[in-house]
Amino acid sequence: MRATSNSASPDETAALAKALSAEVGPGDVILLEGDLGAGKTTFARALCAALGVDGPVTSPTFGVAHRYDAPIGLIAHLDLHRLGEVGLMDRELVDDELDAADLAIVEWPSGAPGLEDEATWRVSLAHAGADHRTIAVERLAGGGA
Ligand SMILES: Nc1ncnc2c1ncn2[C@@H]1O[C@H](COP(=O)(O)OP(=O)(O)OP(=O)(O)O)[C@@H](O)[C@H]1O
Ligand SMILES: [Mg+2]
Repeated sequence: MRATSNSASPDETAALAKALSAEVGPGDVILLEGDLGAGKTTFARALCAALGVDGPVTSPTFGVAHRYDAPIGLIAHLDLHRLGEVGLMDRELVDDELDAADLAIVEWPSGAPGLEDEATWRVSLAHAGADHRTIAVERLAGGGA
């Protein structure tokens, strides 16, 4: 399954994340791909909110992940940009987060080669001029679901 949508604002991107929240389940690993400022964190924030996370959702800057409690269980929000960039990617740390979480959301998954094999969803966000973004949501074969 692959659905491509156009977003004209952060709110529209949030609405797409909310729509995906109805499809995801325990064990899912959701990859968020796209260039700097494409809207990965905006999408992750709205997805967490739609899944019932209470309070602010910010991208982890130090360390690999933030963890949030939600009705679905523990949500881990990872951002692998920095670690991937400086070659410090510790795959064990990533796997620890995925093991601990009931649902994982991963920004910059290219930082951890092979992660795609464990993922259930890929969301690809691309700049399309000014506030426009193209957002493709794809169900992957891998993962536990
Ligand atoms: N249609 C849109 N969807 C999402 N964000 C948008 C859109 N239009 C403008 N923006 C703006 O683009 C920025 C996206 O920032 P965000 O942190 O979500 O991106 P990111 O992909 O996580 O970046 P990074 O690679 O730095 O982690 C925000 O400032 C947001 O307001
Ligand atoms: Mg981000």
